Amino acid sequence: MSALLELKSVSKSFGPTLALNALDFDLLPGEVHALVGENGAGKSTALGLIYGVIAPDNGQVEIEGNRQSFRSTSDAQAAGVSCVFQELSLAGGLTVAENIFAGHPRQRFGVVNWKRLQADAAALLSEFELNLDVRKTVDSLPVSARQVVEIAKALSLEAKILLLDEPTSALAPDEVESLFGIVRKLKERGIGVIYVSHHLSEIFRISDRITVMRDGQKVATHRTSETTEKEVVSQMVGRLATARQERAPREIGAAVFQARDLSLTGIFDDVSFDVRAGEIVGLAGLLGSRSKLIARAVAGLLPAASGRMSLCGRAYAPRSLREGIAAGAAFVPEERKTEGLFLDETNLGNLAAANLGAFSRRGLFQRKVAARATERAIDQLEVKTSGPEQTTGALSGGNQQKILLAKWLETQPRLLVLNEPTKGVDIGAKRKIHEELERCAKDGMAILLASSDFPELLGICDRILVVRDGRIVGETDPQNFNEDDLLSVASGAQQLPALVHEGADS
Ligand SMILES: Nc1ncnc2c1ncn2[C@@H]1O[C@H](COP(=O)(O)OP(=O)(O)OP(=O)(O)O)[C@@H](O)[C@H]1O
Ligand SMILES: [Mg+2]
Repeated sequence: MSALLELKSVSKSFGPTLALNALDFDLLPGEVHALVGENGAGKSTALGLIYGVIAPDNGQVEIEGNRQSFRSTSDAQAAGVSCVFQELSLAGGLTVAENIFAGHPRQRFGVVNWKRLQADAAALLSEFELNLDVRKTVDSLPVSARQVVEIAKALSLEAKILLLDEPTSALAPDEVESLFGIVRKLKERGIGVIYVSHHLSEIFRISDRITVMRDGQKVATHRTSETTEKEVVSQMVGRLATARQERAPREIGAAVFQARDLSLTGIFDDVSFDVRAGEIVGLAGLLGSRSKLIARAVAGLLPAASGRMSLCGRAYAPRSLREGIAAGAAFVPEERKTEGLFLDETNLGNLAAANLGAFSRRGLFQRKVAARATERAIDQLEVKTSGPEQTTGALSGGNQQKILLAKWLETQPRLLVLNEPTKGVDIGAKRKIHEELERCAKDGMAILLASSDFPELLGICDRILVVRDGRIVGETDPQNFNEDDLLSVASGAQQLPALVHEGADS
C-alpha cells in the first residue's frame, strides 16, 4: 500500500532548540499511527509541520507521493489534512453548525444559508451517530462534545489525514470510548489518523503502529501488536523505566479545610467534606459530574450561594481567586492557556506573578531571588526549557503545565486545589508531579485534587470523594478500590455507604 503521508528527514529548529532532527515518518490509509515521546520530544512540532503551521528547515513532506510546501493551514486542508489541536480551537460563541463549517460556510449570493448549514452539520453528525443540537453554541457544550465538533469540522473538509494531538486529555473514561468509536469509523473510510497521546494504554488499544520519538528524532517504529508498553516507555525515556517507589506513610493532622452544605442552584448541592493537613483528597467524577466546579468553588472562582467553609480555623468565603489566595489557598486550573499562564511572559514572570511578595524585599522586586526560585522549580520538575528567561508560550504543552504547577506550589499554600494537574504531561513528568504533591502533603499541606484520571487518584490520594450530578455520593479508600469500582460508583451503577464526617461541627 502506498503511503498517504511521508515525512522525509524533516528538521526544525527554534533558535537554539532542535525540535525535529531528521525525522522520518509515514502514514498509511486506514491506519492509526501513534506518535509518542516525552514532553518536548517534538510531537506537536511534527504535527504542526504536516498541518502547515510550521515550515521545515530541511526535509520534505509528501502527500500521496506529491511533495508539499504548505504556507498555511488552508494549504494543508486543501491537500486533505485536518487537525484537532492539543488545545481546542473552536469559537465558543458560535453554534455547532457554524463551527463545523467555519472556513467554508455554505454560501449563496454571498450570504450564509443557515438552514442548509444546519442540515449539513446534522447530517454529518448523524453519520457518526453523534447526537448534538447543531443550533447550540459551542461554549454551552461539555469538552467531549466540543471535541466531536472539532472532528466533525475536520470531516466536513473531507480530510484524508486527521491529526489528533492528545484528544483524550480532557475526556472521562466513558467519553474515550465514544471517541474510539469515531476513530474506528474513520479508519473504515480509509482515513489515516496520527494519534499523539501520553496515555499508552489508549495507544495500545487504538493504534496499528507506534513511532517513538526522543529529542526530535525517531527512535523506533513498531507494529503495535509486536511491542509492549514497557519497551515503548524505555525507548521514550532512553533507559529502563524504574518502578514507582512505595508510598511513604504520611502523618495526617487536623482539618485545614472544611466545607459544609455548599450549594449553588443547578451546579452543586449539599457538598460537605474536610481536607486535613498532610492529606490528599481526590474529587472523582465523570464528565458532567461537576466535580471540577466544586474545586473552583473552594478556590473562590465560583462562590456557593449557601453553606459554609473554613480554612485554618477561620471562616472562609472567598469571592475571587485573590481572596482565596489571601486566605492561604492556591488553585491550579485546568485551562493553562486561558486561565493559568501568561504565555507571552517568561517562566520567571509567570512564577513572579503569583509570588511578588515572596520575591520582594522592602517592597522592591528582587529579580535574582525570582530567578533562583524559578531555576529551582525548573530543576525540581525537570522542565524542558532554556531557563527562567524563556517565554513560557514557547514550551511544549506538558512543560507549560509544569510551569503552571510550579507557580502555585511556590506560594506554599495551606490548601492547594488542583484541576487535572497532569493533563498532557508525560509519564515520567507525571510521576515527578505526584512525588512533588506527596512531598507537599508530607510537609503538612492540605491538597484537594480533582481529576478524571482515575489511576492518578487511586495512586496518590488518601481518600477519594466521588461526585455525581454535583453531589458527593460517596467516599472511597483507594487501598481497597480499583479503577473499575471507582468508575461504577461515579457512573451510578454502584452505591456506596453515605458519608460520615468525623468531628463535623454540624
Ligand atoms: N514556538 C516555539 N518557540 C520556541 N521553541 C519551541 C516552539 N515550539 C516548540 N518549541 C520547542 O521545541 C521542542 C519540541 O516541542 P513540541 O511542542 O513539539 O513537544 P511535544 O512532543 O509536543 O511535547 P508535549 O508532550 O509536552 O506536548 C520543545 O523543546 C519546545 O520547547
Ligand atoms: Mg505537544
